[in-house]
Amino acid sequence: MSIIYHEQTKEFHLYNDSISYIMKVLRNGQMGQLYFGSSIPDKEDFGYFIETAHRPMTSYLFEGDLSYSLEHLKQEYPSYGTTDYREPAFEILQENGSRISDFVYKAHKIYDGKPGLKGLPAIYTEYPGEAQTLEILLEDILMGAQLILCYTIMRDYPVITRSAKIRNCSASRLTLTRAMSACLDLPDKDYEWIQLSGAWSRERQIKRRALQQGIQAIGSIRGNSSHNHNPFVALKRPSADEFQGEALGMSLVYSGNFLMQAEVDTYDVTRVLMGIHPIGFSWNLEPGEAFQTPEAVIVFSKDGLNGMSQTFHKLYRQRLARGYWRDRERPILINNWEATYFDFNEDSIVEIAKTAKKAGIEMFVLDDGWYGTRNDDRQGLGDWSANLNKLEYGIAGLSKRIEEECQMKFGLWFEPEMVNENSNLFRSHPDYRIETPGRRVSHGRNQFVLDFSRKEVVDCIYSQMESLLADARVSYIKWDMNRSITECFSSAWPAEQQGEIFHRYILGVYDLYERLTNRFPEILFESCASGGGRFDPGMLYYAPQTWTSDNSDAVERIRIQYGTSMVYPLSSMGAHVSVTPNHQMFRNTPLATRANVAYFGVFGYELDINKLSEEEQEEIKQQISFAKQYRKLIHKGTFYRLLSPFEGNLAAWIVVSDDRKDAVMGYYKILNDVICPYRRLKLRGLDAGMDYVIEGITGSYSGKELMNAGLITTDASAGQVLDGGGTCTDFWSRIYVLHGIKKEV
Ligand code: DGJ
Repeated sequence: MSIIYHEQTKEFHLYNDSISYIMKVLRNGQMGQLYFGSSIPDKEDFGYFIETAHRPMTSYLFEGDLSYSLEHLKQEYPSYGTTDYREPAFEILQENGSRISDFVYKAHKIYDGKPGLKGLPAIYTEYPGEAQTLEILLEDILMGAQLILCYTIMRDYPVITRSAKIRNCSASRLTLTRAMSACLDLPDKDYEWIQLSGAWSRERQIKRRALQQGIQAIGSIRGNSSHNHNPFVALKRPSADEFQGEALGMSLVYSGNFLMQAEVDTYDVTRVLMGIHPIGFSWNLEPGEAFQTPEAVIVFSKDGLNGMSQTFHKLYRQRLARGYWRDRERPILINNWEATYFDFNEDSIVEIAKTAKKAGIEMFVLDDGWYGTRNDDRQGLGDWSANLNKLEYGIAGLSKRIEEECQMKFGLWFEPEMVNENSNLFRSHPDYRIETPGRRVSHGRNQFVLDFSRKEVVDCIYSQMESLLADARVSYIKWDMNRSITECFSSAWPAEQQGEIFHRYILGVYDLYERLTNRFPEILFESCASGGGRFDPGMLYYAPQTWTSDNSDAVERIRIQYGTSMVYPLSSMGAHVSVTPNHQMFRNTPLATRANVAYFGVFGYELDINKLSEEEQEEIKQQISFAKQYRKLIHKGTFYRLLSPFEGNLAAWIVVSDDRKDAVMGYYKILNDVICPYRRLKLRGLDAGMDYVIEGITGSYSGKELMNAGLITTDASAGQVLDGGGTCTDFWSRIYVLHGIKKEV
């Protein structure tokens, strides 16, 4: 891995064994993009990648020269207003009302390692030699501003991380009206765009379309990254698939309003922009102040979408998630939400926990309803001390009982960013909520959003949580967030800074996470926003796991977890077995299938175990012992998507251990079929020279055989059971466990 600067040609080459990223100081002093893709050998001059030509209706930079226009140039951090008519990476409003800028190269520095971003989540390194960083300083002398473009190349990953910083060095105020994290000008448009979109309970469904001239974009302006769109986009070559071909993955390490957009121009250049959504955003820079954008992570894969996802999984699991729980086996938990909703007391909770313990469950999580006067969703949010009518001895008493009487760890739900009007917090601090003076204050689930752009509000919630946690035995926190922001305005900030509130809000959320994780480093955090409304890389920096979706139906979960796996590791996906009929879909699925899906995440239960039959309780014991045996492999192995539930009735995925000796595969048939075809499935990731046995199947099979010829997966299907062919139902599934027995010599 290296970053080279060629003095003569003013070219930068960032490369490692798999990728090259090449850029150049252009003739006008701005930064031009030359190449990003598979690694190529370094040389002094890649300037031939710059193409400019005369075209009618083009505006040119230099007098007498009919070839040099920014409209033709691929750039690193482009602006609008001179000769480029595409959407820009940034815009700065100056004192005289002008928005024209001209940032030219001034200096650069190259150093080992990777800096953190103050107040923001970011990829980090752990050991010397893992990464190198390039900072390019550009200056607009007339404006009196500096732009610092920051690039890190990782030694072991086909990844570039990028961010930008803008500093006001003038004597007057500058206002940023747009500040994206990164821009990629790709030389053609032959890509398929892939996004992860959906809704509450239908998160991260895979949607594809071919790029066309014009703008295609996704984003959020809700204050949270959202159920609707994930801050991620992939561009893959039309011929690339899950296993081969070029794919680019772009992911924003941010939890608030975002924009991911691709603009295909007249010359088929594809400009990808990613960063904070400009709608509702502006940022004042007083003299001497600077603005730091969130970080963008750009992955290159020549091994198709699985290759891209595997890079994200490893990077996000090992160099974005942090802390005590990063590498530890996650406890199997039982959560009482779908078991009791708001209706519980200390004894009913302990009853569930006792049976759960007998089944082998390791942690009990008490969900919503334990605090203030929270007996329904109209009250209590903001008052983070126990409801003594339900829990006589408070959280301290209950957590002690769970630990001592049930021998389990105890976890607790919070929704720190919210308030109900019917709460002590709101009665004493009505000004703490986000609202615009004189306007209607919209609610979501009868609740309001606290103004986390204000430090005193974050302090107030921190001190309530800190004193409760210091006094109780809490090993896990589920941090929920059940509505988006409306009427965004803060009474604490002046008129000219109201465009900062959305971003300042998220900075406040990060600050509270940072303080709590520092104060209680051994508490495991699971982020949640009505399920998957904030399943993003920003959250992963603080909470190594996220409640993937409120939808716990096994069939819906196949699609949700499959889509989520495009970017996020299995160790980050909370996945629980719940009862049937399912509470979201009212569907009945076999208990085995519910577990067979949930194993491929952070496994747990979301039900009243005492209401299950004896047979079901027995089955659950088996499931828990399986989950304990394989959770390490499932969370740390290499994951391959094999069959897509978005393309047919079948789905399959496999996780293979690092040494390729063990693998666990999930195979799912959504609806039963009659007189079904014979089926073979080609496995992936095995050791070609190893022989494997498969639990429940006689014989042994070489890795080569299983990957090239395939495994027979034909099932009984529907038909005349009297014929003796066995049965298979709707929502049928099977787990295949493979063990390597000997290696070819
Ligand atoms: C939404 C979450 O996603 C659920 O799991 C549960 O915690 C409820 N909120 C509680 O209000």
